[in-house]
Amino acid sequence: MSVRNTNRVIINLEALYHNIETVSEWMKNHDLDWTLVTKVLCGHKPTLNALIRLGIKSVGDSRIQNLEDLYEINKDIETWYLRIPSLSELEDVVTLADVSLNTETQSIKTINEIAAKQNKVHKVIIMIELGDLREGILPGSLMAFYKKIFNLKNVRVIGIGTNFGCLAGAVPTVDQFMQLILYRELLELKFGKSLPIISAGSSVALPMLLKKEIPKGINHFRIGESIFLGTDLISSGNLPGLRDDCVTLESDIIEIKEKSLNSGAETSNTTPFESEDEEATIKPGQRGYRALLSIGQLDTEVSGLIPENPEISIAGSSSDVTVVNIGDHRMGFKIGKVIRFKLKYSAMARLMANKYIDKVLEPSVDDFFKQINHMSSDIGGRSVLGSDKNLRVVKKSSTSSVENSVDKKSLDAEEKID
Ligand SMILES: Cc1ncc(COP(=O)(O)O)c(C=O)c1O
Repeated sequence: MSVRNTNRVIINLEALYHNIETVSEWMKNHDLDWTLVTKVLCGHKPTLNALIRLGIKSVGDSRIQNLEDLYEINKDIETWYLRIPSLSELEDVVTLADVSLNTETQSIKTINEIAAKQNKVHKVIIMIELGDLREGILPGSLMAFYKKIFNLKNVRVIGIGTNFGCLAGAVPTVDQFMQLILYRELLELKFGKSLPIISAGSSVALPMLLKKEIPKGINHFRIGESIFLGTDLISSGNLPGLRDDCVTLESDIIEIKEKSLNSGAETSNTTPFESEDEEATIKPGQRGYRALLSIGQLDTEVSGLIPENPEISIAGSSSDVTVVNIGDHRMGFKIGKVIRFKLKYSAMARLMANKYIDKVLEPSVDDFFKQINHMSSDIGGRSVLGSDKNLRVVKKSSTSSVENSVDKKSLDAEEKID
């Protein structure tokens, strides 16, 4: 028996394609490669599949299971593992990711051993801490760190990177990007090996990209949120030209009544979940229409739901139910109808991970690809490893184990350094 869920996340393929195409164009204009960060999809295979059909060539995720889902869909897509790997998952990281972000020499040496057994060269980006206070080695330890790992046979350090805006909310600056370029230069000069990639940008750096403030030398971005939600993480609102309706939530109305908006009862702190404190804005005796929705704090980050209809506001929520104020009139709402929300990233992530929520692609993949009469050939997530995935595997017969497209680029650069 299949039970019907009462809430749906709608993934609008037209809007998603529009955002991917737009961001791809920005990247192309600045000669940047980029990887689409899909972790917020929580391995939702139909969407991943659609993204690949839309032309995405490089995907980054922070859950190894999601990379496994991707692998089942398409073995040729370039994969980046974005969370600093735990020792216990390194085997899977080497099996399922082409590139991983790393900050521990012990992990990188273990990756080297595993990659040797799998007959591969695994690509590594060294993450440097530049103020967000999440992952990253301290810049002062970079030389000593690199010295321990640059000569490993089955690990190829393809570049350095950093992360902004995820923990402390650090905003990138031109100075920080310049620092990265300088670190790369120092490493290349001292060790005589090229590091072709500086992977420095996420959605928070897109406003700088649009202002043409990204210094030449930064050549790779990892982009998630702005693609799925259109967000401008610096000035809030949306980035110009991006749509904010790629992903929305529809929730069923399960009760609608005109009620007093003040409780009238003595209240205390007995509720298990924090709720909105809207009493302050409500006049004594004020009444209005309230709708109950079949979604609650167990399902999502309710504060990350933004009613599409600006007349509607969220009054509060408990584990399974959210209450919205509709206003002085019913506005055509009745039970069985839905209320639609735009989503903040936190709300989207929890909804996508939630088994009680349906995920629906609109239009369906088949209809979308029938309708669309032109597709950009050079779209999203340009692969930094080049098109020949087989070259990622070290061929015993090959004269050089590192002659793949990145390595070719880097070998050219190495000649220059020498
Ligand atoms: C390491 C890393 N890179 C890139 C991203 C993408 O960030 P955003 O979704 O803000 O573009 C994230 C977060 O999802 C991340 O953890």
